[in-house]
Parts: sequence; structure tokens; C-alpha cells
Amino acid sequence: MKRLHLAALVAATAAVVATATGFAFGGSTTSEPSPIYGVTIPDGYRQWELVAPAQEADPLNELRVVLGNKVALKAYRDGTLPFPDGTVLAKLAWKHVQSPEFKTASIPGAATTVQFMVKDSKKYAATGGWGFGRFINGKPVDQAQHETCFACHQALVKNHDYVFTRLAP
Ligand code: HEC
Repeated sequence: MKRLHLAALVAATAAVVATATGFAFGGSTTSEPSPIYGVTIPDGYRQWELVAPAQEADPLNELRVVLGNKVALKAYRDGTLPFPDGTVLAKLAWKHVQSPEFKTASIPGAATTVQFMVKDSKKYAATGGWGFGRFINGKPVDQAQHETCFACHQALVKNHDYVFTRLAP
């Protein structure tokens, strides 16, 4: 009994370590669902195509990239609005640091958050057809933070199907 207990503990610890080290935006990606929306981290999103980079000034001081799945990139290229169901957009963010090897070069430091928007016009009818998820260290952030997502996107980019990022030229 005691032995079993210890084995379970070791397994649990290994899982926690795997989750922690898995978060460099690499590796396998499954997660708990986000509050309100039930969005999880999609498998393989690191292999998605670039939509555009972005930079956020102080105090956040971050470098970001927005990636999209195949449905998203086709919609961008065809100029389809609203985005069709099945569109998923990912935003990855890192602290913005100076390269130790080259003074004027900016490079990503520690990963901060990864966020997703998933288009399902029926399931998420109340929020413009979009479900939202923000994750830190592979874990969804709390409900209060998820209550802010649609409000900001709705206030500022309702005319672009609630999506800020345009395809970079
Ligand atoms: C105060 C405004 C604001 C709030 C709140 C906000 N966002 Fe955004 N979001 C932005 C801006 C601005 C961008 C454009 C990219 C950038 O500058 O980082 C963006 C981009 C995104 C993108 C890439 C697609 C796009 O619209 O460009 C995703 C995915 C995203 N946000 C998810 C979320 C999630 C999930 C939440 C809630 C946890 C959230 N956002 C809350 C302002 C906001």
C-alpha cells in the first residue's frame, strides 16, 4: 500500500515536471479547458503558419507572434470575413530582451502567455462566434481574466470579426 502510494506520488511529480518543462512552447500540448469557453491548447500549434509578429511596449515589454491554423490562413489569403468555423488563432508572447551577442538585436526571453481564439459560430454565438483561452505554464488563467477577452476585442475590432491581427505583408 505504502509502495503504491509512493509510486503514485512519483508519477504525479513527473507529470508536474513534464508540464512545467513542456512549456517553452514546444512538445506535446494538452491542457485543462479555459473557464467560460472550454478552450484547450490545440495539438501541434507550434507548427502553424505565421500571421504576423507584434511588439508590446512597456510595462509588458513583450514580443508576440500570431499563428493560424490552415482554415485561418486560407481565410486571410482569400479575404474571407467573418472567419469560418474551424478557424483557430494563437498568440504567443515572450519577454522582450536584448541579445547578449548583438546590442541592437531584440530576442524573445521567457515565455509569458499563450492565447487562443477558436471560431465556432453556434457554440460561441454570445461572443461573436469566438471562444477564448489564455494559458500560463500550460494552465488556463482564472475566470475573471477570461471575462475581459471578448469585451476588449469587441470594443476595438468588431469590424474585423473581433480579430486585431492582419496578415503581415
Ligand atoms: C485590453 C485589450 C485586450 C484584452 C482584454 C484581450 N486582448 Fe487579445 N488582443 C489584443 C490586441 C491589441 C491584440 C493584437 C496583438 C497584440 O498586439 O498583441 C490581441 C490579439 C489576440 C489574439 C490574436 C488574434 C487577434 O485578435 O489579433 C488572440 C488569440 C487573443 N488576443 C486572445 C485573447 C484572450 C484569450 C484574451 C482574454 C484572456 C484576450 N485576448 C484579451 C487586445 C486584448
